[in-house]
Amino acid sequence: MILGLKLGLVGLIGATAVHAAPAATRASEIEQRSSTCTFTGSKGAASAIKSKTSCSTIVLDSVAVPAGTTLDLTGLNKGTTVIFEGETTFGYKEWSGPLVSVSGTDITVKGSSGAILNGDGARWWDGKGTNGGKTKPKFFYAHKMISSKIEDIYIKNSPVQVFSVNGASDLTLSGITVNNADGDDNGGHNTDAFDVGESTGVYITNPTVHNQDDCLAVNSGSDISFTGASCTGGHGISIGSVGGRSDNTVENVTIENCSIKDSQNGVRIKTVYDATGSVKDVTYKDITLSGISDYGVVIEQDYKNGSPAGTPTSGVPITGLTLSNVKGSVDSSATDVYILCASGACSDWTWSGVSVSGGKTSSKCKNIPSGASC
Ligand SMILES: *[C@@H]1O[C@H](CO)[C@@H](O)[C@H](O)[C@H]1NC(C)=O
Ligand SMILES: *[C@@H]1O[C@H](CO)[C@@H](O)[C@H](O)[C@H]1NC(C)=O
Repeated sequence: MILGLKLGLVGLIGATAVHAAPAATRASEIEQRSSTCTFTGSKGAASAIKSKTSCSTIVLDSVAVPAGTTLDLTGLNKGTTVIFEGETTFGYKEWSGPLVSVSGTDITVKGSSGAILNGDGARWWDGKGTNGGKTKPKFFYAHKMISSKIEDIYIKNSPVQVFSVNGASDLTLSGITVNNADGDDNGGHNTDAFDVGESTGVYITNPTVHNQDDCLAVNSGSDISFTGASCTGGHGISIGSVGGRSDNTVENVTIENCSIKDSQNGVRIKTVYDATGSVKDVTYKDITLSGISDYGVVIEQDYKNGSPAGTPTSGVPITGLTLSNVKGSVDSSATDVYILCASGACSDWTWSGVSVSGGKTSSKCKNIPSGASC
């Protein structure tokens, strides 16, 4: 009876939020574990950060995160649910962020209908991204998320890179929207939607992306899938660049049922010049390209300081690459397919139904493995 009464009293509203129950009685522990806490307004972030381990459900309703503050939801209790409601906003400061960070086990992060995380990136955009100009905050760190999911989050106008997935295992990101369309003509740059590294079991389903850099970039990790994506405006769906980091192994990545529109590249794999590592068992299946300005398919082993250097090296071999039903058109000034491999460093490729047209045929391809063609 007493327990039931206590449970009935939880459900705290506003920045005043949760009382810290000092007595570690059985009842108060249960109360904390089952409580829903709602945070709102300009004090919502500070209150949520303070009380995050006292709440089993954290509702963030129209929180205005102050400049230079991370909405820090790292170290959540196992099983915590985080729900964004209304419009989440962030104050302006030159800093590297992140604006939001979440970690824990069995965590669910979701956006309720109509919820939006608005980075108002135009305040930082200067066409330079992370290469110079203003220091810009990254948006969302999903680091060390274990057996967790992030669902239906709508991100608008990120200052620079959006989702950083690192040290994750068994993490699903479903129904995510990254809408940086406003950045196309206003200096949005390096606004990668999903950067994945050092993770095992990352499943990204049905994302809708309009940005100004990679739709997906996998730098390292294994057992990664990216399906049902609509990618517009960016640099394509990429593996790499691989090499030169602490983890340089990419293995078992499936990219399936995706469209890539009005982007620099479609399918892209790049490895770093003179580095070591491996790219193994990557599949691109049922990919549709349109309005590609640079390369429909581009695979190169010559990246040096972030740019192609023209001379491939063999330290990061690309093996077991499958392209199946990759089709569509590129601009007339673009190149349909470009493959630049070092001798013996690309093998065991299976290509079928690769039909990219509209652009130029490259005369610079090197060491094309059997099964593929330029
Ligand atoms: C490859 O990754 C998928 C998840 O995308 C997983 O279901 C599958 O078991 C993995 N395959 C191997 C051989 O590990
Ligand atoms: C392909 O992805 C779209 C979303 O872009 C989804 O609606 C559709 O069901 C997917 N098709 C298959 C066969 O998975």
